[in-house]
Amino acid sequence: MSRNKWKIIFFFSLFTLLGWGFYMFAEMGDRVLETETEIGNNEGDTNSLPIPKLLKDRNPDPDVAEFYLEAQHATKEFFTGEKTNTYGYNGNYLGPIIQVRNGEKVKIKVKNELDDPTTVHWHGLEVPGEMDGGPHQEIYPGQTWEPNFTINQPAATLWYHPHLLHKTGEQVFKGLAGLFYIEDEVSDDLNIPNEYGENDIPLVVQDRRFTSDNQFDYNIGMRDMMTGILGDTILVNGAIQPSLEISEAKVRFRILNGSNARIYNFYLSDDMPFYQIASDGGFLESPVKLSNLELSPGERAEVIVDFSKADIGDQIELRSDDFEVMRFKVKSKNNNIDLPQELVKINKIPEEQATVKRSFDFQGMGPMVSINGKQFNMERIDEHLDLNATEIWEVTNSASGMGGMGRMGNVGHPFHAHGTQFQILERNGQTPPPNERGWKDTFLVYPGEKVKVIAQFKYPGMFMYHCHILEHEDAGMMGQFQVGSGK
Ligand code: C2O
Ligand code: CU
Ligand code: CU
Repeated sequence: MSRNKWKIIFFFSLFTLLGWGFYMFAEMGDRVLETETEIGNNEGDTNSLPIPKLLKDRNPDPDVAEFYLEAQHATKEFFTGEKTNTYGYNGNYLGPIIQVRNGEKVKIKVKNELDDPTTVHWHGLEVPGEMDGGPHQEIYPGQTWEPNFTINQPAATLWYHPHLLHKTGEQVFKGLAGLFYIEDEVSDDLNIPNEYGENDIPLVVQDRRFTSDNQFDYNIGMRDMMTGILGDTILVNGAIQPSLEISEAKVRFRILNGSNARIYNFYLSDDMPFYQIASDGGFLESPVKLSNLELSPGERAEVIVDFSKADIGDQIELRSDDFEVMRFKVKSKNNNIDLPQELVKINKIPEEQATVKRSFDFQGMGPMVSINGKQFNMERIDEHLDLNATEIWEVTNSASGMGGMGRMGNVGHPFHAHGTQFQILERNGQTPPPNERGWKDTFLVYPGEKVKVIAQFKYPGMFMYHCHILEHEDAGMMGQFQVGSGK
């Protein structure tokens, strides 16, 4: 009964907030860009999964896309009572989805309406260093940054987030992050769910910690330095443990672990199987049937859940470890398509093509985290690469344990590098598991593990490599590499 009461209160405040929101939206006039096409579903359901807007392409030329993005501060009512001070892109928390096509020329105007500098990094996108949005591309308050690039990689679910030196964790925690979709002929033609917001649903999973007056609690204690910030409240697309009504038998979910530090081990209640169809940088060669999926911060996975065996009225929970992330309410099960057995052909980068081998070792803990014994220094270039070189990188983790997460309480470090997509050659001397045989830009390395990857570095400039536990990155578990001799 108290739950029902709570629901009524929530429902009431949700609509009050919505009404207020629309009023403010109308009021703000030209300050809010009319950038988005609203696509939503299951209105009227309490705590339903918010579906982010698709950012409007302002250029009528089909080969050119132009987007406006604004980093701003705002407030959001996560709980009844005190509102939470937040950050968001074109809104009060998270950002719209930027959708582009392979081959398209893209221009983005990024305005910083915050009181602090920020940057916007396109995680997973293969673009020159100057367009990458790393710590070198600071945007000062009131300024606009205008990167432009041509998309030259296959269909994938990427994302964007700030990358300000020592401040990435805090700015992401307050709400700055969004998804970046690339589509191509393959994603158009495959017989998989692809109707945005209907059967193709983004899930940005985050954990947050709040103070007693409902503010984001980003006060980093010693324990947080060890494990990174772990929150006790789970948000999906900015809503606390929401639910989604399912009306089709097969639904595609594009999952981003957008948390600062938490590693999830997703599974569905009733041991319902699901199929992973894409990893960070695009489709896998064929769907991989899974009963659980480990996803570390920064990683993405596209999965298809088969609800055809569920009964109408069933509630299927998406869980991780011992907690609920969100739930699916099966309302109907239309369009039971057969999943294709083959998705895409991935050309393996030949190992013989590699001219250089490098090793990266995660070391230290807490404030002393490092890579190869070095903490990040913006003035120091750690690695020099030739333009278009193919290289093999070996990433190990000899950092000591002591933490509260991941396999056996050890701190796994997710390795991420900018400006390229890797193929994993070996995990601990073995062929990687089937869902790690596609394109990856972020991969988890537990203590004692060794992950061997290969990549081509096709874009010049300065790029970062780092641990994607944002508190580790901010503490210095990051280095930079220069591709080519220019800037
Ligand atoms: Cu997702 Cu260097 O970042
Ligand atoms: Cu990145
Ligand atoms: Cu780390």
